[in-house]
Amino acid sequence: MQELLSFGSDNHSGVHPAILEAVCAANRGHCLAYGADPWTAKARELFKSTFGAAAEPYFVFTGTAANTLAIRALCRPYEAIVATHIAHINEDECGAPEYNTGNKQLSFPAVAGKLLPEHLSQLSIQPQNPHRVLPRLVSLTQATELGTVYTLAELRTLCDLAHQRGLLVHMDGARIANAAVHLGCELRELTTDVGIDALSFGGTKNGLLCAEAVVFLREGLSPDFAFLRKQSMQLASKMRFLAAQFIPYLELGLWRSNAHAANTTALYLTERLKAIPGVRCPYPTEANEVFAHLPAALESKLRERAHAYPWDQGMTRFVCSFDLSTADVDRLLTEL
Ligand SMILES: Cc1ncc(COP(=O)(O)O)c(C=O)c1O
Repeated sequence: MQELLSFGSDNHSGVHPAILEAVCAANRGHCLAYGADPWTAKARELFKSTFGAAAEPYFVFTGTAANTLAIRALCRPYEAIVATHIAHINEDECGAPEYNTGNKQLSFPAVAGKLLPEHLSQLSIQPQNPHRVLPRLVSLTQATELGTVYTLAELRTLCDLAHQRGLLVHMDGARIANAAVHLGCELRELTTDVGIDALSFGGTKNGLLCAEAVVFLREGLSPDFAFLRKQSMQLASKMRFLAAQFIPYLELGLWRSNAHAANTTALYLTERLKAIPGVRCPYPTEANEVFAHLPAALESKLRERAHAYPWDQGMTRFVCSFDLSTADVDRLLTEL
């Protein structure tokens, strides 16, 4: 099989060797199933030391499942989710949240990928009116779908406003590691400490093997989540193989080193692209995604070589995986 060098998606990369080693190390003898194993116990402890003692993690297989289950846990069917019009839950999950939970999504036009405090102030919340859905959950994607990153102050403002209005806040953290590296902060600082209530903690895009987690960050948010996860077909029988991956990821800081590598490559790619006449990058590169308007003469050739996808408004989206380097960027562009 010919090796593909892809800047198309962080799902095009393989699994980090340390993660495969952790899975192999867990492949020893027998142990109890469905999470009653020592790896799950250790990973749970690591989530608590990372996000705070109240954190309750539940491992699942996909980011879509994590988002859908977080919504299912936090909203009654007549309640609504507030997100941007480009939120992954809104545009790219084939209606999984709506289909599985029944919750309507109220969307606001994203500004550089972000939801703004004005959007939350505009919400009409009518608890006495059964003709209208009741806004209940704000969902923020960090890093955003446009590769930008909410600052800690922005997150705090949005969480405070949401809470004042009786709403909970969910973070779609498919690329939370990239965001934390950009902000130079710990995972707790951009979640628990700013007031996020529930998190979809991404792993797969940053070197894990189909491992994600729903993490409730405050006590009592979803006492029946174990039932919801099973009914939604996301309870792994051989849970140790999901849990084992989070051990080096959190304990050895693999989340940080992988995301740092991906972000560094993305920044370099941006600089190299911007140096080409006619290229315009409309958004700052703050995580591992780069969006560019490319001149016509370059567009199809570069998309083809980079395996990059056409995006909205004639843009091209590049995504840097943890295992790409600045040398790979040089190879990509020099060959052109
Ligand atoms: C922001 C964001 N959230 C969630 C997901 C969902 O992940 P999955 O494809 O594992 O369902 C993705 C995947 O592309 C994503 O980019």
